[in-house]
Amino acid sequence: MTSLFKPFELKNVMLRNRIVAAPMCMYSVENGLVGEWHHAHLEQLAMGGAGMVTVEMTAVSPEGRITWADAGLWNDEQAAALEPIAAAIKATGSVPAIQLGHAGRKASANRPWEGDDQIADDAPRGWPVIGPSPVAFGSPNVWKLPREMSLEDIRRVQGDFAKAARRAREAGFEWLELHFAHGFLAHSFLSPYSNRRTDAYGGSFENRARFVLETFEAVRRVWPAELPLSVRLGVVEYDGRDEETIAESVELIRRLKSNGLDFVSVSVGFSKPDASVPWHSPAFMAPLVERIRRETDLPAAVAWGLGDPHVADEVLRKGQADLVKIGRALLANPHWPYEAAKALGVERPSWATLPAPYAHWLESYRPVGAADVDNADA
Ligand SMILES: Cc1cc2nc3c(=O)[nH]c(=O)nc-3n(C[C@H](O)[C@H](O)[C@H](O)COP(=O)(O)O)c2cc1C
Repeated sequence: MTSLFKPFELKNVMLRNRIVAAPMCMYSVENGLVGEWHHAHLEQLAMGGAGMVTVEMTAVSPEGRITWADAGLWNDEQAAALEPIAAAIKATGSVPAIQLGHAGRKASANRPWEGDDQIADDAPRGWPVIGPSPVAFGSPNVWKLPREMSLEDIRRVQGDFAKAARRAREAGFEWLELHFAHGFLAHSFLSPYSNRRTDAYGGSFENRARFVLETFEAVRRVWPAELPLSVRLGVVEYDGRDEETIAESVELIRRLKSNGLDFVSVSVGFSKPDASVPWHSPAFMAPLVERIRRETDLPAAVAWGLGDPHVADEVLRKGQADLVKIGRALLANPHWPYEAAKALGVERPSWATLPAPYAHWLESYRPVGAADVDNADA
């Protein structure tokens, strides 16, 4: 059996294979309220056969959105809109997951295809951004200066995470991921590039880790013990001081694990605009994920550059990761899992990946012109 199509069990959740549809912001809603677009998009990823489908980074408060068009979970109406989506994912045999986050100093941006730049506080779709310290992500001519968060702000945001987590459960999600990567708020507390505080939340590793640890604990208290709680952590910046960042990340994951972390999704920090990320090497994070997994003894997911099924399968076969997160390859083809099963020579690839009402017909279907066994007799 290929590694990609082995089931994966964690707590009360069973994934039919090791393919996870990565969280991907669609920047396509108003007031944080998902609708038909998200339903169609996420349902098709689940229909395509992924073992788990993750709803994009969903903001825990309006100010925590990357753009004005991000999904949110700061009120019950938003939870009610997500409920049928979780149910639809589950109906296909996939596991419904959601990622919660707060964009911090990277918030208040235009949509990627509308410039990606930050919007002025007083413009109709902009708002003031917050962060651990008043340090912009890049040049202050381009990037906004965040307001330094007070202790009340810290408590409020941690409470927002916990409230959103409770709503996520009520909406039917079975796996919760907290976004502690990509230079967003939680990660910006960890990174010395963005955190210059001199109080209990800045300075030493101990202090820079405090926001993350407390936020995790607030969520763990409300998220059911029998369901997986993971974090997506930026464990490396590709900035020349990688060993230090990785060592701190390992220590942080160990502490989170002792507080109830079930799984880690490994990613990049993105705390600096000028990092040297090796984008063009396939599975470039796999050796690092292998190390994190070994040193923390926690199951882990890898992402980036896994669109070739042979590469994704090899990462799993070598034991470098437990799950692979697939992003753009699934946008290009939601049936990537089915195509992957065929490419890897999986026996009965349709049954290995698709729901029965599709699998039955595809088992013996060949495109017109190819040798065919015609079972279209219903
Ligand atoms: C359109 C788009 C939106 C994304 N949004 C998120 C997000 O909400 N949360 C997150 O952690 N990563 C996000 N990412 C990163 C993906 O989860 C994933 O790590 C990345 O696309 C790498 O996988 P790939 O090489 O298979 O595309 C996004 C990526 C894309 C392309």
